[in-house]
Amino acid sequence: MHHTRILSSAALAALLVVSLTACGQEARGGSRYKADTGKGGTIGLAMPTKSSERWIADGQNMAEQFQKAGYETDLQFGDDKVENQIAQLENMITKGRKLLVVAAIDGSALTEVLQRAHDAGIPVISYDRLILGTPNVDYYASFDNERVGELEGTYIVDKLKLGAPAKGGSAAKHIELFAGSPDDNNTKYFWNGAMKVLKPYLASGQLVVRSKQTRLNQATTLRWDGGTAQKRMDDLISKNYGDERVDAVLSPYDGISIGIISALKSAGYGSKSQPLPVVTGQDAELASVKSIIGGEQTQTVFKDTRKLAAQAVAMGDAVLNGKKPQVNNTTDYNNGKKTVPSYLLKPVSIDKSNTQLLVDEGYFTAGQLK
Ligand code: GAL
Repeated sequence: MHHTRILSSAALAALLVVSLTACGQEARGGSRYKADTGKGGTIGLAMPTKSSERWIADGQNMAEQFQKAGYETDLQFGDDKVENQIAQLENMITKGRKLLVVAAIDGSALTEVLQRAHDAGIPVISYDRLILGTPNVDYYASFDNERVGELEGTYIVDKLKLGAPAKGGSAAKHIELFAGSPDDNNTKYFWNGAMKVLKPYLASGQLVVRSKQTRLNQATTLRWDGGTAQKRMDDLISKNYGDERVDAVLSPYDGISIGIISALKSAGYGSKSQPLPVVTGQDAELASVKSIIGGEQTQTVFKDTRKLAAQAVAMGDAVLNGKKPQVNNTTDYNNGKKTVPSYLLKPVSIDKSNTQLLVDEGYFTAGQLK
């Protein structure tokens, strides 16, 4: 009896070893526990969701690059649920991860868990989205978020041929405004960047928002959800565009743009006599780049996730080796508790005329864009 029990626990242990190894071999760090055998220790990578291809790429790129640098990785996705992300971070702390790289779901919800990380001596890099309200963020890697909004706003102004902002300038065009998730710190940067460009035209009357929803809190889209944006756009069209045409829609993210375009198509846009309005976007997600090539979405903003990952990995590796990571902004990203030293990459505007850039850069293959 006793003997059997010993045997079975040995068998269990063997099974456990096999399954841990299998996890270890799972694509790029997998999403489960990986034994801490790398010489540099294991890095915890907390990404917000798998519902957008960019975050999957961000996570995988970082896992690959950290592994090349001699670390193991523990990659988790929070399914856009704040409590999942907190539990995943707690788990990483308990398991003694050497460093946490976090793209927050709710930028203000991580204060307690990051205090625990700090108490355990684990450094934290805020990835793409700034974590708010805590001194326990060491560095921030992102793109120039305000510039993203400027690129979208400028694209609309140019495409509608508005010229200079001036009373009595070009004839009024109709625009509707969408913003990102209210709990994402990036949202206000994208919005402010775009509104800096668009406001003078709203003031001169060259741009008109028929719904009058011109404040950020009227334009936000919880969790960047395309379906939520689609419903809002359905509503905006039916209430404000009976006889009138909407000429442009400011959208801060490709997933939102896809929802907006669906609403527009259901309302009869997308024909020769009623072409789709100018619709911006962000992330150069495959579906949106294809939509741009197909003449539906008009623009997106390309942010190379491989470069962002490389930046976060370089920062993390420096921190873990007692070196100062390279930063290029030490003034703009205050999280309410500290100004977080940041490295900001440059975003690039993409429309039908330059989608080839994405192929030249190796972001997509020519075949993927067909
Ligand atoms: C933001 C990010 C954008 C977009 C959006 C929705 O934080 O900066 O590029 O991905 O989230 O996922």
